[in-house]
Amino acid sequence: MKVLIKNIKGLVQVGENIPQVISGTKMKELPLINDAFLALENGEVVAYGPMSDWEGISDWRDLEVIDASGSFVFPSFVDAHTHSVFAQPRAEEFVDRIKGLSYEEIALKGGGILNSARKLQEMPEDELFESAQLRIDKMKALGTGALEIKSGYGLSVAGELKMLRVIKRLKERNRIPIKATFLGAHAFPAEFKENHRGYIDLIITEMLPLVAAEGLADYIDVFCERNYFSVEEMVEILHAGKKYGLIPKAHVNQFSAMGGVKQALACGALSVDHLEELTQEDVDALRHSSCMPVLLPGCSHFLSLPFGNARLLIDNDIPLALASDFNPGSSPSYNLFQIWSLACVKMKMTPEEAFNALTINAAYALGLSQTQGKIFLGYKGGIVITNEISSLEYIPYSFGENHVQRVLNV
Ligand code: NIG
Ligand code: FE
Repeated sequence: MKVLIKNIKGLVQVGENIPQVISGTKMKELPLINDAFLALENGEVVAYGPMSDWEGISDWRDLEVIDASGSFVFPSFVDAHTHSVFAQPRAEEFVDRIKGLSYEEIALKGGGILNSARKLQEMPEDELFESAQLRIDKMKALGTGALEIKSGYGLSVAGELKMLRVIKRLKERNRIPIKATFLGAHAFPAEFKENHRGYIDLIITEMLPLVAAEGLADYIDVFCERNYFSVEEMVEILHAGKKYGLIPKAHVNQFSAMGGVKQALACGALSVDHLEELTQEDVDALRHSSCMPVLLPGCSHFLSLPFGNARLLIDNDIPLALASDFNPGSSPSYNLFQIWSLACVKMKMTPEEAFNALTINAAYALGLSQTQGKIFLGYKGGIVITNEISSLEYIPYSFGENHVQRVLNV
């Protein structure tokens, strides 16, 4: 099966020499071919270039021609941080927050992550799987072509294994790459409220060996925050995960900067995520590392938290990725077009900077630099064709509108 997309107004993020990480002033640059064509054979990019270079078609058999006049074409986004497997939404907590309670106050009352954990424990694995698959279908239709999914609503041996088995089935069911992250250290379950040592031992001596034996996770993550896991507890758990071949990631600095960034980097974290709070010490540590900061403007928007200081990172030549943090508590949207717009409006990122953060840098944060985030000869990932639009920046400008005409390869 061959596909020719012709008369493309702008073919974006395309080329053979795009770096694996983009930082500093380079984030403003976006390789783009005006009036372009893109040719695919069995889902693989076999040619692209300006229409003037197009040599015509000698063999019309088994060929679909798409006229993309007025449209932009780009690689699917990579969503490097999601909690897409969950049992129920938490809209009642949303209303509690409108009435004045904070996210942290709701959690202290037994809501929040523990609320999701109770609901998840009751739901059979098949139902969890089907509901997550429906969400992924909607994500794909909205331009997401690779994603990470965390556990962390199990918080028991059986619950965490159930979540991770669902993620494994999602990996097998979907053509797009899905990475699994073991986040047993998402919160202390009620029965371990006064016994942190007991829960950490459960994670390290019971959960991790089983997770590793079934090959259920690529990464290990910890929610390092006051009332959750301390910096020392995070370090212990990340090190234990590394012994089983899991690569560290960390939720750090969502509400408070406790020094977790530096320690996560010392553990070899591939990404540090959230960073609504950011200190000079964090910036200095990131500048000398190969770790990708992942900012989550959907969470800042939904919880009315400060937005991550993207400009400070960019000014320090530190790269950054953007992700949805899709979850029922702090960011109930998987729409990366919305994230693109929030990054521009609230974090003062240019449309090009935010696009690089949603593609190249996000792919790096998932170890997918070789295959995702850019269009090149041999690329087999998702391809987004927009509606007819005036310019690329029109997309984050006209927030809330769906610009996707069609998505290929997902
Ligand atoms: O990344 N901060 C910790 N974890 C999630 C929220 C989880 C929840 O509220 O269910 C986050 O924002
Ligand atoms: Fe998260």
